Amino acid sequence: MKLEGFPQTVSLRDGTPVTVRPLAAADAKALLEFYRSLPEEDRLYLKDDVTDAGWLQRFVALVGSGEVVSLIAERGGKVVAEATLYRALRGWSTHVGEIRVSVAPALRRDGLGTSLAGELVKVATRIGVEKMVIEVVENQVGARKMFRKLGFRQEAVLHGHVKDINGTKRNLILASSDVSHVWDAMEALVADFSPSAE
Ligand SMILES: CC(C)(COP(=O)(O)OP(=O)(O)OC[C@H]1O[C@@H](n2cnc3c(N)ncnc32)[C@H](O)[C@@H]1OP(=O)(O)O)[C@@H](O)C(=O)NCCC(=O)NCCS
Repeated sequence: MKLEGFPQTVSLRDGTPVTVRPLAAADAKALLEFYRSLPEEDRLYLKDDVTDAGWLQRFVALVGSGEVVSLIAERGGKVVAEATLYRALRGWSTHVGEIRVSVAPALRRDGLGTSLAGELVKVATRIGVEKMVIEVVENQVGARKMFRKLGFRQEAVLHGHVKDINGTKRNLILASSDVSHVWDAMEALVADFSPSAE
């Protein structure tokens, strides 16, 4: 799927410029390096084993088939964040998109996660997604707070649904928002939360 309007330069809160663009097959190695560089405490709660080369191969294939939209943020030739929109191409939930976002620890709390989620919402609107969902483990406090600010509200808790990489069972929270609500929340945040896209 060809996405219009990229690459973009996003300025973080401290003015650091970051390039945001769709993942290309040639970025696979850099994406794997990014995921392998995340601290274990982050990877503990990620749905997939993003450090596995086999996972990466399947992920790139899903991007190629249009089932997944992946945006990467780059700085100094390295991937520093990735945001994914999963969307079923068949069946009764083709209007639903699932979002996941990961940002390098050194660049957190500077608005990049919010910017990437916002860009994915724009893409989602263009491709006909009406409802956005996230699946987060109860312990992912930062992610829960970020998505709450973006208008997501809890729909369900699945108790003991996740086994983290240490085998400990955790509760999974499903939260959702209509795309238009995320859009409204993004606009409301713009005034005081100023990562800007050029
Ligand atoms: C969750 C994550 C993507 C947030 O990225 P980020 O670039 O730091 O997010 P932002 O800077 O846009 O944060 C927006 C708001 O979310 C909240 N927030 C983000 N991280 C937080 C944290 N660790 N603790 C408390 N609040 C947090 C804050 O309200 C923040 O606004 P503020 O900085 O003005 O207070 C990042 O922490 C991450 O990659 N975590 C590990 C992977 C993960 O949990 N992904 C979610 C799976 S869907």
